[in-house]
Amino acid sequence: MTVPLPGHAVSNLSRVDTPPLLQVDNLSLEYRTAQRVVRATHQVGFEIDRADRFVLLGPSGCGKSTLLKAVAGFIAPSEGQILLEGQAVEGPGPDRIVVFQEFDQLPPWKTVKQNVMFPLLVSGVLKRPEAEERALHYLEKVGLGAFADAYPHTLSGGMKARVAIARALATQPKILLMDEPFAALDALTRRKMQEELLLLWEEVRFTLLFVTHSIEEALVVGNRILLLSPHPGRVRAEVHSHQYGLGSLGSSDFQASAQRIHRLLFDEASVPEQAPDLDFGDIRIAY
Ligand SMILES: Nc1ncnc2c1ncn2[C@@H]1O[C@H](COP(=O)(O)OP(=O)(O)OP(=O)(O)O)[C@@H](O)[C@H]1O
Ligand SMILES: [Mg+2]
Repeated sequence: MTVPLPGHAVSNLSRVDTPPLLQVDNLSLEYRTAQRVVRATHQVGFEIDRADRFVLLGPSGCGKSTLLKAVAGFIAPSEGQILLEGQAVEGPGPDRIVVFQEFDQLPPWKTVKQNVMFPLLVSGVLKRPEAEERALHYLEKVGLGAFADAYPHTLSGGMKARVAIARALATQPKILLMDEPFAALDALTRRKMQEELLLLWEEVRFTLLFVTHSIEEALVVGNRILLLSPHPGRVRAEVHSHQYGLGSLGSSDFQASAQRIHRLLFDEASVPEQAPDLDFGDIRIAY
């Protein structure tokens, strides 16, 4: 499936001798309706290590959300398998939490703190005092300690995004799944949220599977990026992007990488001769 380019190492920088946290193997996903079968992804494979910020990047309709839902356990494979710590994923579980784009899913009658506590209490993981302590801990981490008793309708879009992230992290999942979480925010807030997510990751070192169709966002947020072809999604390449952060935006190196990814995604002509040296430590191209 994926083959290293000549001269390039295999792509897991963080790999020591531990098996990957998540293995997606030869995964095909389909939607079946009475009239037809829609194949959303075709024989997709990738591996995510602990503390990876792994990004699924591809054009609209290539199956990114479908892949995320399958990892979350909402959709069963029609071919292949998903293994979390070696165990087949067979349904949703508290070890995989999804943060979606729409933050207005926060129940409006609960305060910010109650929203974050809710999954902890419902699952019976913690008693009320411990749940409250943990909720406040994660609200502090996302900079919302002072808003614990506020109601969601009094918050900005960015603040609601932070509550959703705090609520997800408070459950301490093995992997955090985010589907275009900042797409509905204005450009400045989106950038700020990307920055905060990276700072939070520095502190907590959670494992992230992040979906976007923005090349720039993928380079900023991810340490590894899986490029998917248009519908049905197949693996086109895997790229390392650990060298980039928000500070890299606008640099010639960053822009060259973005252009390179654009070409890989859309199958355009190869890199122009005068292109600067690209620090694409390794790219694996799928054939
Ligand atoms: N419930 C559904 N029933 C039938 N087909 C579906 C369903 N949901 C998605 N699809 C189809 O599966 C394919 C992949 O959809 P998916 O939502 O995963 O794409 P995506 O990469 O997340 O796109 P976007 O970037 O627009 O969110 C598309 O062709 C879509 O039409
Ligand atoms: Mg989607």
